[in-house]
Amino acid sequence: MCGIVAYIGPREAYPVIMKGLKRLEYRGYDSAGVALLEKDLRVYKKQGRVAALEESIIGQDLHAHTGIGHTRWATHGEPSDRNAHPHLSASGRLAMIHNGIIENYTQLKKELTKKGYSFKSDTDTEVLLNFIEDIQENNNCSLEESLRIALKRVTGAYVIVLLDRNHPDTIIAARKGSPLVIGIGKGEHFLASDASPIIEYTKEVVYVNDYELAIIKCDELILKNLGNEKITPFVQKLDLELTAIEKGGYEHFMLKEIFEQPETIFDCLRGRLDVTKGTITMAGVQNNIDKLTNAKRIIIVACGTSWHAGLIAEYIIEEICRIPVEVEYASEFRYRNPVINHGDVIFAISQSGETADTIVAIEKAKEQGAFIFGIVNVVGSSIARISHAGAYTHAGPEIGVASTKAFTAQMVVLIMIALKIAYEKQTLTEDRYIQLLTELQAIPEKVKELLRTSEHIRNLALKYKNVKDALYLGRGNNFPVALEGALKLKEISYIHAEGYPAAEMKHGPIALVDENLPVIFSAPKSFYHEKLVSNIQEIKARKGKVLAVISEGDEVIEKMADDIMTVPLADELISPLLSVIPLQLFACYLGMAKGYDVDKPRNLAKSVTVE
Ligand code: G6P
Repeated sequence: MCGIVAYIGPREAYPVIMKGLKRLEYRGYDSAGVALLEKDLRVYKKQGRVAALEESIIGQDLHAHTGIGHTRWATHGEPSDRNAHPHLSASGRLAMIHNGIIENYTQLKKELTKKGYSFKSDTDTEVLLNFIEDIQENNNCSLEESLRIALKRVTGAYVIVLLDRNHPDTIIAARKGSPLVIGIGKGEHFLASDASPIIEYTKEVVYVNDYELAIIKCDELILKNLGNEKITPFVQKLDLELTAIEKGGYEHFMLKEIFEQPETIFDCLRGRLDVTKGTITMAGVQNNIDKLTNAKRIIIVACGTSWHAGLIAEYIIEEICRIPVEVEYASEFRYRNPVINHGDVIFAISQSGETADTIVAIEKAKEQGAFIFGIVNVVGSSIARISHAGAYTHAGPEIGVASTKAFTAQMVVLIMIALKIAYEKQTLTEDRYIQLLTELQAIPEKVKELLRTSEHIRNLALKYKNVKDALYLGRGNNFPVALEGALKLKEISYIHAEGYPAAEMKHGPIALVDENLPVIFSAPKSFYHEKLVSNIQEIKARKGKVLAVISEGDEVIEKMADDIMTVPLADELISPLLSVIPLQLFACYLGMAKGYDVDKPRNLAKSVTVE
């Protein structure tokens, strides 16, 4: 979703901004633009990639020490040069970039149109900008003051960053609902949607909170609330290295991130799981153990791949903790006046920690007295900050739009939380507890082992490259793996795919089965093995092609399936940690074989900061 970068300081702003925008490309976008402010204010923007923008302005005057840049993911108005940001105000004095949605922009636009304003774009952003300028002109006040007045009228979500041609020494920014980080350098400041454009310059950052305004000069950062009171900026140190956001020899970030999983899972377990002592150390869990063990119900809210991690957790938590679990799409939960009772605990799962629907869902639950536990990857993100407690997944920056390593890390954290609760509640025998800890500890090595079969999976992707549809099936906690496998294929290769519980196949999807439809089973060794064998037979009897993810040594399914992808044996409870990885690789290689940019699938955004 939209990316924001801004700079003020002694460096040339343009290269800093362009490099930053490239680092934010992963968020998903369709046009890019930059405004540079020195003696004059120059705006350059273009539909398409940042590289296309760069090329289109070769030879222009790009010198400036203050500037703002933007990658736009269209909401109001098609992707085009004219809808790209930055936008200029009617007078041409102000330039603005915006990430978010101004929900009441139609009303504001009507008011402005009556006053004689006309608009060059179809965006809500240009409306807001002129609204701000109009307030400033009518009230003869500062830009900061007019912004404050404007924001009190605005509904929706935003990060906005403003330049005023008459004040090249100042950048003004404001946030509600969309992310904004400010990097503090020596006599310079960097603004961005996340820390990735900032880390090569400084590790000192301030995360701007909702309803805060930032007035930024080279050597001054003032934070205020909408009531014009100053707030002391809370400066944090980034624990992030530049190498973590570079491709490190891989063709694509997605591939790199899939192959990183032995390390990310290890990092997620490190310092937490100790098999010899039989302990799991997680401060967020430990400090709230009573709330968690006494939970009457756990409601998991999430979106996309994180929602699938929630579904897997539902099986595991109910099985070993004996606590009822409900898994909700955050976007549905937030609007349906959910029933929250005393003793309900909300688990909010999010890679980015910035997904708008998940944020609002937990805010609603919080208002009703629920205890919020965040399971988040991005340190310092909004969800991490508004949760009562939580656990980070420590998967490192995930750049590929389709989530892979963050998903397995989410599962690992959820499994550890479940084990800890089950141990405390004594809903698990000591032996079984130790057995599961041991199994979990062995996962990074097993992932390493299964990744050695990647060439075989690449060949399968080539073989299935031209299919039009695919059906993914699984049972028990491998049903959500089927959903995730189907989602990955859709996202990356644009092949229509559906995930189903294998037994439900008979209630619909079986009608689709013919010799052209590959049916992909997530079928590692489990209680369901025989039942899955029957399901495979049903597919074969209808001439369907079967591709199965199986545990090594499973000769039964191996003989029946047309193709197999093998994973090491693991306890059924945690087997999704392995079975999902061949499906991630399969989708990634298939997308690559079709020549698609697997890191930036069309229309998708990494971090969905609007509802
Ligand atoms: C987008 C991303 C997905 C992600 C989902 C939820 O759709 O493309 O990969 O799973 O958002 O994001 P979150 O950051 O909340 O996990």
